[in-house]
Amino acid sequence: MRTAQLLSRYAAPMLGRARLNMFAAKAPITRLSSVSLLRGYATGNTKEQAILERIEEKRTAATLGGGQKRIDAQHNKGKLTARERIDLLLDAGTFREYDAFVEHQCYDFGMQNNKITGDGVVTGYGKINGRLVYVFSQDFTAFGGSLSKMHASKICKVMDKAMLVGAPVIGLNDSGGARIQEGVDSLAGYADIFQKNVEASGVIPQISMIMGPCAGGAVYSPALTDFTFMVRDSSYLFVTGPDVVKAVTNETVTQDELGGAKTHTVKSGVAHNAFENDMEAIAKLREFVDFIPLSNRESSPTRFTKDSKERQDPVLDQIVPADSTQAYDMKDVISRVVDDGHFFEVMPDYAKNIVIGFGRMNGRTVSIVGNNPLVSSGVLDINSSVKAARFVRFCDAFNIPIVTFVDVPGFLPGTAQEYNGIIRHGAKLLYAYAEATVPKITVITRKAYGGAYDVMSSKHLRGDLNYAWPTAEIAVMGAKGAVEIIFRNESNRADAEAEYVKKFANPLPAASRGYLDDIIVPSTTRRRIIEDLEMLENKKLTNPAKKHGNIPL
Ligand SMILES: *[C@@H]1O[C@H](CO)[C@@H](O)[C@H](O)[C@H]1NC(C)=O
Ligand SMILES: *[C@@H]1O[C@H](CO)[C@@H](O)[C@H](O)[C@H]1NC(C)=O
Ligand SMILES: *[C@@H]1O[C@H](CO)[C@@H](O)[C@H](O)[C@H]1NC(C)=O
Ligand SMILES: *[C@@H]1O[C@H](CO)[C@@H](O)[C@H](O)[C@H]1NC(C)=O
Repeated sequence: MRTAQLLSRYAAPMLGRARLNMFAAKAPITRLSSVSLLRGYATGNTKEQAILERIEEKRTAATLGGGQKRIDAQHNKGKLTARERIDLLLDAGTFREYDAFVEHQCYDFGMQNNKITGDGVVTGYGKINGRLVYVFSQDFTAFGGSLSKMHASKICKVMDKAMLVGAPVIGLNDSGGARIQEGVDSLAGYADIFQKNVEASGVIPQISMIMGPCAGGAVYSPALTDFTFMVRDSSYLFVTGPDVVKAVTNETVTQDELGGAKTHTVKSGVAHNAFENDMEAIAKLREFVDFIPLSNRESSPTRFTKDSKERQDPVLDQIVPADSTQAYDMKDVISRVVDDGHFFEVMPDYAKNIVIGFGRMNGRTVSIVGNNPLVSSGVLDINSSVKAARFVRFCDAFNIPIVTFVDVPGFLPGTAQEYNGIIRHGAKLLYAYAEATVPKITVITRKAYGGAYDVMSSKHLRGDLNYAWPTAEIAVMGAKGAVEIIFRNESNRADAEAEYVKKFANPLPAASRGYLDDIIVPSTTRRRIIEDLEMLENKKLTNPAKKHGNIPL
């Protein structure tokens, strides 16, 4: 709600660059976040008074980062400053800053005379819709947001605190890379953060919002945080920039082609979602955080919904086409099942043959994985297996139930897939589902063929409730292929195919073996899932004690 207000305060309906610049011109420095704790505190002691003045001076300097000129430059690029971003991200008045007085401790290359209070990053905690989060927001106006030892230790401090109390860490990244003047100290700073990223993995959610450049040191760990979001046209992620690429490989490539939002959300899969500008990105980040638990010790928040848990959707009864080679959009199915049709899709532009994301069922967060027949018939391949596997593991680590919609014709055949290791990568998804101990509910809408049937959260992988719609076909393979193998010599293949379809292309064989718990009317799917989630609320399942498993990487 607050985000909507903020957005309309600054620009309506959505915020192009021109609007953002208007905001820039209007933004008075006084509404920035740092609260002067000492204002109004008066003492008769003149010596103390002088100290108070110096403290105030420093604090004001900290709110200005690299100074008004650089702030204007940031605004002219259509970007907000580190503090404005925090202001938009957190509930009004909830930000409490740490370490505003920190300065770098570098005495080389003239740095001793060049200090900026805060040292290029704003850190602290606050609330998003009333829930605690920790943030660090890199300040590009101060030394280009570059990472010094002190800058890193500020980030490490909030990560430590976040782990201690169990709250997510949100990083708003906008940094030119390592502070070169500090040499190895800067590298040490990165490593300290990476070590903490790893320790925090699975304990608290970690989210990176890339809102500017993020190169070199910072991306040695591109995937250590759970979710990476980017802002279109202003953010870049790469290990080495275009100049070095040119020098080493002779390739000419622009920053955007090499590491822009499109590259990472469509091609590399490094980033999960991309947003239009700073404002949209932050509004979406607030929406996203609302779905996830604060830590592995908690479950997701409940959000009130008017959407009845009894609601039936008759469209679902017709949604699967009679011809099993015809496509339909699994996202339609998903949005008809979740509360208010609200589905937050993650990685919408990468490996679209599988859909992942968050929704709510009767107010509680669920994660959703679905094969999408609309893209390559919903086939499983390397990209989609890896995409879904990492998501399933996140949800399992953070107690988010998993609802899986299955319509999968199998694994993608071909040399490209085999040479690139579909066996190893497909196994990731199998491993992730098999290992998961959160409530798992599966609905087979149509095809569940071959090994892919097993992989997609089948009964055999400890699925709690496995359902089929009457349109389901559960078999080792499609009828045509199967008939070619079984009835190699049969003169009348058509008859054989019809017989195979009658025998296997329906949910009864699996149901008769107990591999399905029930065959349900599609329109009742929502009600059934909600009932089951309530029933499973206190599910307790633990894997054998071990140091850690060895997921095929
Ligand atoms: C964001 O910045 C921090 C600090 O520089 C860095 O450790 C982290 O790896 C960055 N995130 C990404 C996704 O590059
Ligand atoms: C790079 O390109 C230049 C001119 O196009 C050529 O002379 C040079 O040999 C190339 N270098 C490499 C390493 O391919
Ligand atoms: C998987 O992703 C890579 C990298 O973007 C891409 O080249 C490839 O075509 C994708 N594979 C499939 C089967 O879509
Ligand atoms: C099928 O036909 C092949 C040759 O056409 C023959 O060798 C084989 O024995 C036949 N198999 C059966 C089961 O009839």
